[in-house]
Amino acid sequence: MRAQTDITSIKVAFQTELEAVVTEQDLQRVRDRYLGRKHGAVAMLMKSMADAPPEERPALGKSANRLKHEIDEALTERGRKLRTSAQPISSVDVTLPGREPAFGRRHPLTIIREQVESIFEAIGFEILQGPQIEDDYHNFEALNMPPDHPARDMQDTFYLDEPVADVEAPNVLPATLLRTHTSGMQIRYMETHTPPVRIIAPGLVYRRDTPDLTHSPMFMQVEGLLVDQGITLADLKGTLVEFLQRIFDTNTKVTFRPSFFPYTEPSAEVFISCVFCSGEGCPVCKQTGWLEILGSGMVHPAVLEAVGYDSERYTGWAFGVGIDRIALLKYRINDIRSFYENDLRLLEQFPY
Ligand code: DAH
Repeated sequence: MRAQTDITSIKVAFQTELEAVVTEQDLQRVRDRYLGRKHGAVAMLMKSMADAPPEERPALGKSANRLKHEIDEALTERGRKLRTSAQPISSVDVTLPGREPAFGRRHPLTIIREQVESIFEAIGFEILQGPQIEDDYHNFEALNMPPDHPARDMQDTFYLDEPVADVEAPNVLPATLLRTHTSGMQIRYMETHTPPVRIIAPGLVYRRDTPDLTHSPMFMQVEGLLVDQGITLADLKGTLVEFLQRIFDTNTKVTFRPSFFPYTEPSAEVFISCVFCSGEGCPVCKQTGWLEILGSGMVHPAVLEAVGYDSERYTGWAFGVGIDRIALLKYRINDIRSFYENDLRLLEQFPY
């Protein structure tokens, strides 16, 4: 009976000591204390059995052996755990599912801008960036828009400083503004370079428009300019047809209609066959089969003269196209404002 009580108390004591084990050394000490051949608790228990009544000895012997076995197993298991948890990687549960990284997507306007850039880069055009805060001279005056030109209307332009109150010159307008188009980049480049000129200039432009499906106070354009000797309207036509067919579809039809811009003469508005009905006629093209896509023309001699080029010797063509407009048509989006609202439900539909 006493031996049986001993077995229980040894078990309890062993459990307590086992739980306190932190190091391999602790573990060895516990092992010695319980399983040591001579003085271990189990060995001592076995010895004490000699005092038990003979009929109890076989059962006690069995219990003692089981205890020895249990202690041994528990020590071995604890040792295994100690060794694996000693690895530095132990705090990482390698069986947990990984966390998927969130990748950013390209903005639709970035995708189109890069397509336009690569088309023109492939035929030798340089890509320019210019200031969004522009002066009146580059945005208007040098582009053959004198001070009283209607395009300078305060209604369309975001001016950044107050009008100059000058009795001598009552019509002087503020000097700095948010550029209303990328055309000023024609002037900026030609001022500092001599022909031949082959550039495109993409970027944001600003107008005081009330936002609606087709208007946003900020939008994106690309300007194109080519100046050299012997450049004709045929060069403009060939380049723009090729450009538009690469951007949209090789089957896209392109047509040029006379128009007016102060900085080109002659000027042309360019239309493509409707991307929705392929020219059959639908509500988007108002049954005409055509969609207006860009403005263009032969650079006005006054513009060439403004930058000091000899307009007798050099001719050139220019165009300006809305990146937003291309993106709306290509991606079948019906609200230009959605490009500037950062709605992930839209943006996540575009590739990386
Ligand atoms: N600047 C014009 C606009 O903002 C677009 C444009 C038309 C640019 C004709 C040109 C051009 O270079 O030749 O609507």
